Amino acid sequence: MPNLFTTTCKERSTQHRISCLVLIVTVTISWWCYGPARTAVAQTPTTFQRRTASTVQSQRVADGKHGMVAAVSPPAVDVGVEILKAGGNAVDAAVAVAFAEAVTWPEAGNIGGGGFMLVAPGRSAEDKSPTFFDYRETAPAAATPDMFALGESRLTARFVGTPGTVRGLELAHKKFGKLSWPDLVKPAVALARDGFEVNTALARSLNGVLRDRRSVNNAEMHRVFDHPEGRLWRNGDRLLQPELAATLERIMEQGAAGFYTGRTAELFVAEMRRSGGLITAADLTNYEAKERTPIHSTYRGYDIYGAPPPSSGGIANALALNMLEGLNLKREDRFAPRTLHVMAEAMRRAFHQRAMHLGDADFVEVPEYLTSKEFASELAASLHERATPSRSLAEEMEILDGGENTTHFSVVDDDGMAVSNTYTLEHSFGSRVVVNGGGFFLNNEMGDFNQKPGHTDERGNIGTPANVIAPGKRMLSSMSPTIVKRDGELVLVTGSPGGRTIINTVLCIVVNVLEYEMEIGAAVDAPRIHHQWFPDQLRVETHRFGNVGEDLTSTIEALRSMGHRVTTVRGQGDAHSIFYDAATGQLRGAADKRLDGKAAGY
Ligand code: GLY
Repeated sequence: MPNLFTTTCKERSTQHRISCLVLIVTVTISWWCYGPARTAVAQTPTTFQRRTASTVQSQRVADGKHGMVAAVSPPAVDVGVEILKAGGNAVDAAVAVAFAEAVTWPEAGNIGGGGFMLVAPGRSAEDKSPTFFDYRETAPAAATPDMFALGESRLTARFVGTPGTVRGLELAHKKFGKLSWPDLVKPAVALARDGFEVNTALARSLNGVLRDRRSVNNAEMHRVFDHPEGRLWRNGDRLLQPELAATLERIMEQGAAGFYTGRTAELFVAEMRRSGGLITAADLTNYEAKERTPIHSTYRGYDIYGAPPPSSGGIANALALNMLEGLNLKREDRFAPRTLHVMAEAMRRAFHQRAMHLGDADFVEVPEYLTSKEFASELAASLHERATPSRSLAEEMEILDGGENTTHFSVVDDDGMAVSNTYTLEHSFGSRVVVNGGGFFLNNEMGDFNQKPGHTDERGNIGTPANVIAPGKRMLSSMSPTIVKRDGELVLVTGSPGGRTIINTVLCIVVNVLEYEMEIGAAVDAPRIHHQWFPDQLRVETHRFGNVGEDLTSTIEALRSMGHRVTTVRGQGDAHSIFYDAATGQLRGAADKRLDGKAAGY
């Protein structure tokens, strides 16, 4: 079969040299065949670019020279912009947005969960190296590798991991913050105490969880979040959360100690006793947020910074991009069957490596070669015209679904400092356990660990050692806050919710912007694809958000004829992103229109 591999083979090992020779001939032929087409594509906008440019919703896209915030929750975006205007930097604004979203987007914004913050310092910083704050939840000290039964409901207090958000935000603020901590928490206190206007997305989100029959025993959630008139929430209603306001006030006055010790910790531990969770006062006081070095990779001269373990996002994206770099993507249109096929095959291989090797690097060894260009070239060499059955890559196994409900926001300030923050409760509203008297949801992040050591089956369970539960260990994540730079200048800030689809949503946006030079609004709007090795299925997002439905119908047929098992989905991710044009000094924020997000700049 013809091979799609087109990178240099210089550094490959001896046993691959013969195949390299074959490949070089193939490369030459394929370049001869496709080189001119690539040039033509580069000079004129593709059909796809022309189409999507007209679909950009102006209310979702904002321009600014001095600062930009893009997030799912409009009141939280307004808080972020106010902090920037008051002289705060991007980290100050990000801390304030994170606390505000814990009030205004309770399905994922949180103080009872965890996440990651990637920071690229601005032009005036002495040390411009991007850095990463890991505030992922940890397994409590009493956790054991086989504490869960396969198929056990994850909507219980036993799935709560020790939260990291408040310590993580404090750590980032201690390193970079310019404004005082109380100034950053205060807006969230006001939103909780005085209330704010519920929009359509929030009303839908609250009504969904409150009406779900699996929430019937979550009495505290109903007490705190049911509409006071006993009806469904509507656009324009006001949501007040006085107990959350009191919790946030303690954090405002005492810093992270106001969450991990004292009154809030007492309420937390009492809730654990009442609802059967494992977290103790010692788990809370012992929780540590960590500063780590981001994953750095390159793509056609761009520097890509991504999330290191315990996220799988940075490594999986680096691996996929390293494969794609050599595969001459742009020889065809962004949504041509060949382009989607090649991307899907890179995703499939990256997810296979993810399942085999990735876990909390404080507990397991993560191979360094995963992000090398040579390793990606070796994997890319197995790409063909037809889909590679996932089973042929390794033994038969599937991976449990990660939660789909996380939230991402992006911030850039006047100095070019950028923050890419993704945080989560795992499932929408996490475990649905609300701390009695504390007013906040607790995560069910323990579900991101492999559920039963050694047990791998076709139903969706994996038991490889890297991500098995251990006390104090962080569960593997797919969250992929990402920052792209070129020659030291900021280019792109992006990330998304969506469980394992996060990695591929980010990959699609990075390819749209860096390879196809799409305008950021169009790049965010464009349909996304997802392949995660197992199940052996290519998910294609159709119709709803981009104006390309009719074209994707024939594309999907072509992908099926290549051997892909295609399923269609109505939405993937929610990737609020920012693009910086170094030539003009302009920032453009793009809120993802899949939810009611907002971008605002000045
Ligand atoms: N809970 C989703 C993730 O961390 O990937």
